[in-house]
Amino acid sequence: MNKKFFVTTPIYYVNDKPHVGHAYTTLAADVLTRWHRERGDEVFFLTGTDEHGAKVAQAATVAGKPEQEFVDEKAAAFKEAWQKLNINYDNFLRTTDPVHVAAVKTATQYLYEKGFIYKGQYRGLYCQSCEQYKNPDDLINGKCPEHQVEPQLMKEESYFFKLSQFEKLLKEKIESDELEIKPIERKNEVFSFISQGLKDISISRETVSWGISLPFDKKYTLYVWIDAFLNYLTGLGWSGQAGQPPKFFSPDVQLMSKDILRVHATIWPGLLLALELPLPQKIFVHGYFTIDGQKMSKSLGNVIWPEDLVVKFGRDGARYLLMSSLSYGQDGDISWQRLAEKYNSDLANGLGNLVSRVMKLNEEFKINPSTRLRARIKNLEKLFNEIKFKEILDEIWQEIAWANRYIEEKKLWDLLKTDPEEGKKVLSELLSLISEIAKVLSPFLPETSEKIFEQLTLRQDSGLTGKIKPLFPRI
Ligand code: MSP
Repeated sequence: MNKKFFVTTPIYYVNDKPHVGHAYTTLAADVLTRWHRERGDEVFFLTGTDEHGAKVAQAATVAGKPEQEFVDEKAAAFKEAWQKLNINYDNFLRTTDPVHVAAVKTATQYLYEKGFIYKGQYRGLYCQSCEQYKNPDDLINGKCPEHQVEPQLMKEESYFFKLSQFEKLLKEKIESDELEIKPIERKNEVFSFISQGLKDISISRETVSWGISLPFDKKYTLYVWIDAFLNYLTGLGWSGQAGQPPKFFSPDVQLMSKDILRVHATIWPGLLLALELPLPQKIFVHGYFTIDGQKMSKSLGNVIWPEDLVVKFGRDGARYLLMSSLSYGQDGDISWQRLAEKYNSDLANGLGNLVSRVMKLNEEFKINPSTRLRARIKNLEKLFNEIKFKEILDEIWQEIAWANRYIEEKKLWDLLKTDPEEGKKVLSELLSLISEIAKVLSPFLPETSEKIFEQLTLRQDSGLTGKIKPLFPRI
């Protein structure tokens, strides 16, 4: 049966171009999208950029550019990177898009009229790099653990969103998995955070001019997170009407990392409840990349840019290396050297070698791969539903390793001469395994998968025996 499947990524801050962390999340959404499309589901994949707020405005100032010009440039850099990685989203939502801005104003006005927004006095700690509030006990040595900077003390007249009102309901929905948070450790973490009590949050800024002005008090701009969350609705064409979810809403899976889980499990569903809209089904939290054991940062100069991965390893090579670097829910460390080693062992030697050896052997026999699927790669459906990318790839690569060993063990070259019947049987088995591998790999390595199918059918249809180009030239 066809199902709808709506998957989202965070919309990224445009203070810089995307790095491998952003690429991982977006690629993960692309892989899920391709998998669900192949099964016949009706899929919508939404991504985009978060372009307002103090952090982005500051980056524009540093670059010496007007904000709009700066964000236009950076948003284009995100789109370009996704194109290079062969990521096919259905919509790329930018929060400076006037249609988004208008819908956000409509929704904010509604919340104000319904009494979910009220005026008060705000006093508290705020980390501008996170664009998030901090509790004193979040800090390590007085600093934000994420950014190693002291948060600012913020004190201003402010409008508040009545988040506290939804504390009990949110706890229930998270506990019962009506709003599922995966992996389980992340759910527990959020649950205990909410159990300490949810406070109303300040949603207006007097000093930040780069933002959406409050429709009921133009002296203020809207807190960037409120603006940002609504992208998950406006990205589907929502015009800001409470109680009227757009087609595809709510998200089946929202992908993100741990840095933004708390706000996604509190403010975001709080907004949805206030707007009488359904909550997301699932929030999936993947791990963080570190580079050579260190946090990735521009100041350390160790950032890995996705375009550089594509230049070195090719599109599918980059996709494979990214998707296989994080185990379920775990952080992962990468380095150029280990990526290159993995490329050579898994792609050049593993998959590439298997395909070229078998194709070469088959030049003489032109055996058709049988379409019968082997039972070995079987847990995929379950693993995809659990969002276990690396684990899926590991299963597939076990098959590849098995097949390469099988060729050795059977001494297939000799066998085809000494016992052609048996040799052809083995060859046919390998061909069908390769065609199955090409099929299950297609969400991850779409171009490679196509190339393999081409080679299989070329041989079959016309007996063409032109030179077989290696899928992954060694590095
Ligand atoms: N603009 C907000 C999100 C608003 S969504 C309504 C934001 N942007 S961000 O640019 O900082 O992106 C954060 C997300 O980027 C993380 O949740 C994760 O998806 C991805 N990553 C950023 N750095 C990462 C790593 N080092 N490793 C893995 N993913 C990381 O927060």
